[in-house]
Amino acid sequence: MRVAMLTGGGDAPGLNAAIRAVARRSLQLGHQVSGIRNGWAGCLEEGMIHELTLAEVRGLLPLGGTMLGTSRTNPLKEKDGIARVIDILKKNGVDGLVAIGGDDTLSVAAALHETGFPTVGLPKTIDNDLAVTEFCIGFDTAVGVVTEALDRLHTTASAHHRAMVVEVMGRDSGWVGLMGGLAGGADLIIIPEFPVTLTEVVAHLNRRRGQGKLFSIIVVAEGAHIPELMQQAGGEPIKDAFGHIRLAKRGIGELLASTIESETGFESRVTVLGHLQRGGSPSPTDRIWSTRLGVAAAELIAGGKSGVIPIRRAGAVDVIAIRDVLKGDHQVPRDLYELSRVFA
Ligand code: F6P
Repeated sequence: MRVAMLTGGGDAPGLNAAIRAVARRSLQLGHQVSGIRNGWAGCLEEGMIHELTLAEVRGLLPLGGTMLGTSRTNPLKEKDGIARVIDILKKNGVDGLVAIGGDDTLSVAAALHETGFPTVGLPKTIDNDLAVTEFCIGFDTAVGVVTEALDRLHTTASAHHRAMVVEVMGRDSGWVGLMGGLAGGADLIIIPEFPVTLTEVVAHLNRRRGQGKLFSIIVVAEGAHIPELMQQAGGEPIKDAFGHIRLAKRGIGELLASTIESETGFESRVTVLGHLQRGGSPSPTDRIWSTRLGVAAAELIAGGKSGVIPIRRAGAVDVIAIRDVLKGDHQVPRDLYELSRVFA
């Protein structure tokens, strides 16, 4: 059979490791492999599907980004989108598809399966907001980036006695902020699941000063809610094809840092980590699990399975329906959030 692959949504470290794993296992099983360029966009126009040989997937393991390219194109928003996707796939001799992505990409994969085209998913999102799975490609590396940034920022914070605000990614869930903040010793972590008021932030920083702690590191997720600040956050929201607002444009980190300075008198600075969190070489965990799940995906599609996704559950590879990772938001539980407050 011919197995095709695409990567959709934001790029993430480990995507290339997954591409390599799907390709290598499919080739080993005696199948042919195609790469689709630029996510679902590559299934809506001609000339975007190419043969992937063994030589082309060599050396991919440590590389960040995705050798296939990606996009936030949503065929469900296009006229006859799913029918056009299937038409292009069939014209290119594709018998089964592995779609690697987060909730947006996987919602299209589920629709494709439900229309009758054999499709298997792979979980990717640095936000770690897919349900059930304990692993999403890119999350572990992103947490590492936040951790290293906090380690570095501690030196300036302490030398200059400043409040350092670090804005991290995290649209609806604060996993990157919480885990990075815990690992990097943040003094306050503000994430979408648990809104705080500006009054609470100011009181917290004043309390620390009162205890002789002359600096503070505050991690804030770009999707966090601080009601008083949100009235100032502004401009017309820019949305993608899946209806998501460009959160970085809200500038919550900058607003928070300048408000902290005016409310407390403490010198404050902001660092927006932005796409640094999605870049660079994948961590060992991202490489290993992208490989394990990629091999599992290749075996599932070759075995005639569809509408399913290999995930990590209880430390092992498990297989569930794609629709199940899309159920609800995978949010940070309160007990884990409370853990961060022990070190506030
Ligand atoms: O969806 C993953 C994510 O990394 C979000 O945390 C962030 O809001 C968004 O992507 C940024 O996307 P873009 O690269 O399109 O600006």
